[in-house]
Amino acid sequence: MELVTSVADFSAALDAHRAAGRSVGLVPTMGALHDGHASLIRRAGADCDVVAVTIFVNPLQFGPAEDFDAYPRTLDADLAVAGAAGASIVCAPSVAEMYPAPVLTTVHVAGLTDTLEGASRPSHFDGVATVVAKLFSMAGRCRAYFGEKDYQQLAVVRRMSADLSMPVEVIGCPTVREPDGLALSSRNAYLSADERAAAPTLHAALRAGAAAVEAGETDPAAVRAAMGAVVATEPRLRLDYAEAVDAATLAVPARLAGEVRLLIAARLGATRLIDNLGVTVPTSPTHGATEPRKAGHACAGA
Ligand code: PAJ
Repeated sequence: MELVTSVADFSAALDAHRAAGRSVGLVPTMGALHDGHASLIRRAGADCDVVAVTIFVNPLQFGPAEDFDAYPRTLDADLAVAGAAGASIVCAPSVAEMYPAPVLTTVHVAGLTDTLEGASRPSHFDGVATVVAKLFSMAGRCRAYFGEKDYQQLAVVRRMSADLSMPVEVIGCPTVREPDGLALSSRNAYLSADERAAAPTLHAALRAGAAAVEAGETDPAAVRAAMGAVVATEPRLRLDYAEAVDAATLAVPARLAGEVRLLIAARLGATRLIDNLGVTVPTSPTHGATEPRKAGHACAGA
């Protein structure tokens, strides 16, 4: 596996692979790689000849009071994870390499970024869209793999790529979870033992929301209340939002119909956790959640 730190070397390497007829899969990350990231790398390896992983903690997407400085930086361990999952090349540029001059050009995806994470973290998605646009420019024609764990981010990136006619096919992959339901996240490392024990309540709340939808509830406020009631059973959790939205538009409809996404964010001590789950509004007595019920599923086949 090749490690590059320069943007020019990264672009040249991927250009050479394409010139030799090889397809490229791109997996953008901020490092602190876990099995969720590895599932994206494995999926990219199943689909593409060459897998490129980027590791860059992007200052543009962190708010002033957020954890940019504290964010875990574990390059040696990350290289081992990326290699074992099948990466061919890792690009780990410095901030100066990615942003050699003050950024005057940013990408804003309107509408999709106003609510949910966008409401709680102003300018976060501009930072994400801008760095992902740069990574897509650097990588060139490819398939790019993103996790449903960050469902709104996936929607934003997909829309940006389409709106700007980028030569990148954006592919979403399912969330990898711990056996107790907690979604894998680099930020789980911040949790104390007590907080870690409380964290699966987020997933339990999503399951309760999904169960309500599966039982025929189509009022978004009632589904929100079902999720909120579960969060309220865990005093250490401070709910930021729990919403039931249209899976495609991320808007809250008057009545839930078709594919619904349940999204939740909460604080646990100093750590902010997010999670989400897909569910289909039943049209007949037989119906079910769109994500497997069992924990620990990898990316394969989605
Ligand atoms: P990061 O948080 O490192 O996540 C990188 C990719 O891994 C994202 O697409 C994310 O959705 C996915 N991922 C994280 N946890 C996952 C899990 N438990 N299961 C499946 N996939 C998971 O997201 C970012 O970095 C950044 O915003 C980035 C897109 C790299 C731009 O800076």
